[in-house]
Amino acid sequence: MREITLIPGDGIGPEITEAVKAIFDAANVPVTWEEENAGQTTFDSIGELIPSTLIASLKKNKVALKGPITTPVGKGFKSINVQLRQMFDLYSNVRPAKTTPGVNTRFENVNLVLFRENTEGLYSGLEMFDERLQISDSVARLTRVGCRKIIRAAFEYANKHNCKKVTAVHKANILKSAGALFLSEASEIAKEYPHIQYDDKIIDNMCMQLVIKPEQFDVIVTTNLFGDILSDLCAGLVGGLGVVSGANVGNDMAIFEAVHGSAPDIAGQGKANPTALLRSAIMMLHHINMKDEADRIEKALDATLANREQCTGDLGGSASTMEFTQHIISKL
Ligand code: NAI
Ligand code: MG
Repeated sequence: MREITLIPGDGIGPEITEAVKAIFDAANVPVTWEEENAGQTTFDSIGELIPSTLIASLKKNKVALKGPITTPVGKGFKSINVQLRQMFDLYSNVRPAKTTPGVNTRFENVNLVLFRENTEGLYSGLEMFDERLQISDSVARLTRVGCRKIIRAAFEYANKHNCKKVTAVHKANILKSAGALFLSEASEIAKEYPHIQYDDKIIDNMCMQLVIKPEQFDVIVTTNLFGDILSDLCAGLVGGLGVVSGANVGNDMAIFEAVHGSAPDIAGQGKANPTALLRSAIMMLHHINMKDEADRIEKALDATLANREQCTGDLGGSASTMEFTQHIISKL
């Protein structure tokens, strides 16, 4: 039995984590869950936003599955998600977007993986407001070592998975310091992988290219904010936020979570699509070398997604979270 830290999160988090647990149970996956939450929920109960018991559990297990956690806009606590990524140097945010047969989309052959730098850039936390001058700064700090780590992770992935092309996305024409650093590191590292095609795109053009001809992209690597935005865009190309998975990966720890947030508009209504978290859990099974279990669950999931009536409302079906989950279980 492999022990995994489970962070249920809030909003739709508890509903979709319950679904994944039920599917893992039914598939007899040899993992046990050590459940530890974070955010407003734990703040209300024990006065800690990131409980020390959660930190200890992550350090011990090195692998976690995480539901979404709400971050209020404006004054309020600093994002728990960003803090966890920075605390454990989970510098690589890996977000695949692939067309699923049966899921209704505008494109038929999207198959790309986005690598988002996960600890620096505009999410560095360098936030200042000068009361006297009424000036606010949010600093997009990049380090050379940080750029190299994420760019190398993207190329290593492309190499391992026989991907044809890596595209670096930036705004180096305007961001003369941080943007230029990211771009120059990308073109340097690209030289070490001569068998992989390399190109770069300015972020605004990239947005247009993606919604016109997404099939032309393979592996994409970019900085934190651009990656955050592009990953929701890519989700839209393949069926929406309900279906796209993600992983926050460092050198010795990985936290798997969906791209989407806590979806307060549908929380507690049994409407959430658990596919995104389930796919993140499937990525996790590959990470811990449980390939057979991963493949078995993925087959049952794909067979369910191919039948629209059995899907949740976001995919045009009428099933509840738990009905959809039961359809998957019945196909295991
Ligand atoms: P969101 O991703 O929660 O929701 C955007 C839209 O997609 C909503 O209409 C929602 O109903 C829908 N949606 C999302 N996941 C879905 C699912 N599994 N099934 C069906 N529909 C789904 O983004 P929003 O509303 O901007 O953010 C809500 C909160 O989540 C914010 O506090 C934000 O900070 C937080 N958030 C947390 C993340 C994390 O924990 N990693 C990531 C992104 C946002
Ligand atoms: Mg996001």
